Amino acid sequence: MGKDLLNRRKFGNTALEVPPVAMGCAPLGDMLDTFLYSVPEDEAIATVKAALASPFDYIDTAALYGDGVSEQRVGQALKELGGLPDGAVLQTKAGRNPVDNDYSGETVKRRFERSLELLGVDHLDTVFLHDAEWTTFDAAMAPGGPVEVLRSYQDQGVFDYLGVASGPNEVELQYIETGLFDAVITHNRYTLLNTNADPLIDAAAARGLAVLNAAPYGSGMLSRGPDSYPRYAYQQAPEHLIERTEQIREICNRHGVPLAAAALQFSMLDPRITVTIVGMSRPERIASTVELASIDIPNQVWDEIEALGPADADDPEIYRFKDKK
Ligand SMILES: NC(=O)c1ccc[n+]([C@@H]2O[C@H](COP(=O)([O-])OP(=O)(O)OC[C@H]3O[C@@H](n4cnc5c(N)ncnc54)[C@H](OP(=O)(O)O)[C@@H]3O)[C@@H](O)[C@H]2O)c1
Repeated sequence: MGKDLLNRRKFGNTALEVPPVAMGCAPLGDMLDTFLYSVPEDEAIATVKAALASPFDYIDTAALYGDGVSEQRVGQALKELGGLPDGAVLQTKAGRNPVDNDYSGETVKRRFERSLELLGVDHLDTVFLHDAEWTTFDAAMAPGGPVEVLRSYQDQGVFDYLGVASGPNEVELQYIETGLFDAVITHNRYTLLNTNADPLIDAAAARGLAVLNAAPYGSGMLSRGPDSYPRYAYQQAPEHLIERTEQIREICNRHGVPLAAAALQFSMLDPRITVTIVGMSRPERIASTVELASIDIPNQVWDEIEALGPADADDPEIYRFKDKK
């Protein structure tokens, strides 16, 4: 079972085949306020190169990560490699200007041109409309608006597939229902600690979209452990999430399974999910992720986790995300 999880998968209804795990490049943006740690440039570049030399040769970045820093570092790695290796997959995301939060078509166009320049490419596999909760659906879909701008690049062949990558399910669903999108990224909402994205994943999979589940570790608590990183979705985790993490870790420990393996495979084993996007900023993380994905997890582990009850049972208010509402 473990080894099969490494196989490439069909990217929704498209002709593309992709690895089951993408290297998430948000930490490469060196965003101290988001992750509480800094990532040196040489480590960042070495991590991208390690990913591109592995079964997980799939890079996910965004113009927003460090406002260009992540894309610049990915671009530097590609330059040192002489370009994107054959068969590797590259995607970025386009959206608001973080300085003034302008999300107009013009801004998206200017920033997407910058993405191409920083990455040093003239073609990408997929581009996502990023954090669409920072604008309205009507403004995004208006003539000359962000979606039309991105579609015109798609029509010119600058990228093959269009996706949406936002926070709240209801925002994502609006875009999916237009029929214009090939893929959707949800984040921090389908983990061992929070499954709020379940109905979105159902809807997207039923429509034949590629479903990308980002942040399977909830931004780090499920990989680094709650003692060293008691944070979920880029903020201090509430006590009940820390407690649940400790309960799950105890189950995993008894069966000799790393907590991170259960967190990763919870996403990878879900037949509705095409790709799991894992944030990594150290080269050794790549081999470690391949290992975590290759471990055979006994059914008993899943049964015992399930017996804890639904992930959000103790969360009547539903965990508050820092998304713009
Ligand atoms: N709106 C959107 O589209 C959206 C939103 C959120 C995230 N994303 C994408 O999804 C990616 C994943 O989310 P995320 O990075 O926020 O969170 P994540 O994948 O849940 O967790 C990342 C954290 O886990 C650590 N980690 C990774 N592999 C590990 C291992 N084998 N052992 C121990 N620790 C490990 C990383 O540490 P190191 O940094 O030290 O390697 C990092 O601190 C992002 O990078 C981004 O590309 C997209």
